Amino acid sequence: EKSGYDHYMLKEIHEQPRALRQTISGRIDPDAGSVDVEVDLPPEYIASIEEIQIVACGTSNYAGRYAAELLESTVDVRTTVEVASEYEFDGGRDPWRTLVVAVTQSGETADTLSAIRRAKRAGARTLAVTNTLGSTIVRETDDSVFIRAGPEIGVAATKTFASQVATLTLLAVHIGRERGTLPYGRAQELLDSVRQLPNAVQSVLDAEDRVREVAREYVDSDAFFFIGRQLGYPVSLEGALKLKEISYDHAEGFAAGELKHGPLALVTEETPVLALLTDGSRPKETLNNVKEVQARGAPVIGARTDAGDGSSAGAGPGGADASSYVDVDLPVPAIGDLEPLVANVYWQLFAYHVANEKGRPIDRPRNLAKSVTVE
Ligand code: F6R
Repeated sequence: EKSGYDHYMLKEIHEQPRALRQTISGRIDPDAGSVDVEVDLPPEYIASIEEIQIVACGTSNYAGRYAAELLESTVDVRTTVEVASEYEFDGGRDPWRTLVVAVTQSGETADTLSAIRRAKRAGARTLAVTNTLGSTIVRETDDSVFIRAGPEIGVAATKTFASQVATLTLLAVHIGRERGTLPYGRAQELLDSVRQLPNAVQSVLDAEDRVREVAREYVDSDAFFFIGRQLGYPVSLEGALKLKEISYDHAEGFAAGELKHGPLALVTEETPVLALLTDGSRPKETLNNVKEVQARGAPVIGARTDAGDGSSAGAGPGGADASSYVDVDLPVPAIGDLEPLVANVYWQLFAYHVANEKGRPIDRPRNLAKSVTVE
């Protein structure tokens, strides 16, 4: 069933182009700049939304953070993201005008279910974004949208993260167009980025041998730090979570600008820094943080927008000289807002190969369960 792969996780990483095509299939009308995610949110309701609150755990929470950045910048709706176990409903005078979105692969996560129950009791409208038809979350929310990634068996979420972000991007475009706050041209840009995702992810998968070599080179490091800004920040958190789950190494994700406020004290020659330097993640500013860690001797693995010649060396975001500050330069196809999501596939492969070098039980990491049904 692993189709020749050593682990379900690796199979599922490689399934991402296909999963993403399923996620997108039939949902985009490029000429109209519109989206149909088969959700029954009436236009009057969409127009009346005052706030969106996203609740989710773990990887799904990071997908929610990615979407929140997009919603706030493109759709102009106040959006908050909370870890489901910390959530207390805090709506306005008319709670129904707060749309509470639960993002959950399994649809069975106890913390997320209890957050949704709290929101419902307070009178909010609830929406589930999930991979699982017939799950508890689908029964308990007012509306659901399916990410259509197909079954995921590896404990570490991979293809479902990509499909969650893609689905939430489509939902953001839908809401933005219905509210009239998202201009046609910007909607087109976002939808183009979504449509280019499967091929862009494939190009990263095609570079797996390179990532395996890099993983072998740094496998014995003391710790790993992931940095990024804006859309690159949730991807940094996700990259670190994946690595710690399956390799048991110490890994942390930081907002790149926060490094100098403390974490820089941990940086040595033995702590590789994986930096998100693509479009959508303010690469020029992050390059300054890359220089800070390089000056402390840390090796830097950078994911950067492809300059157009098939490699990310030379000119391009991060400045013409960016390549001289990174020890490993990983090219990401130029597809706009979803470039950080494509770069995430490098982080997935890196985590996988570090864990594999160490002989970890990748599909069944210690102490973890695929679906967490206790609070
Ligand atoms: C990480 C991982 C977990 C889940 C979290 C939420 O690889 O799989 O962090 O993302 O337990 O699960 P769902 O999305 O099923 O609610």
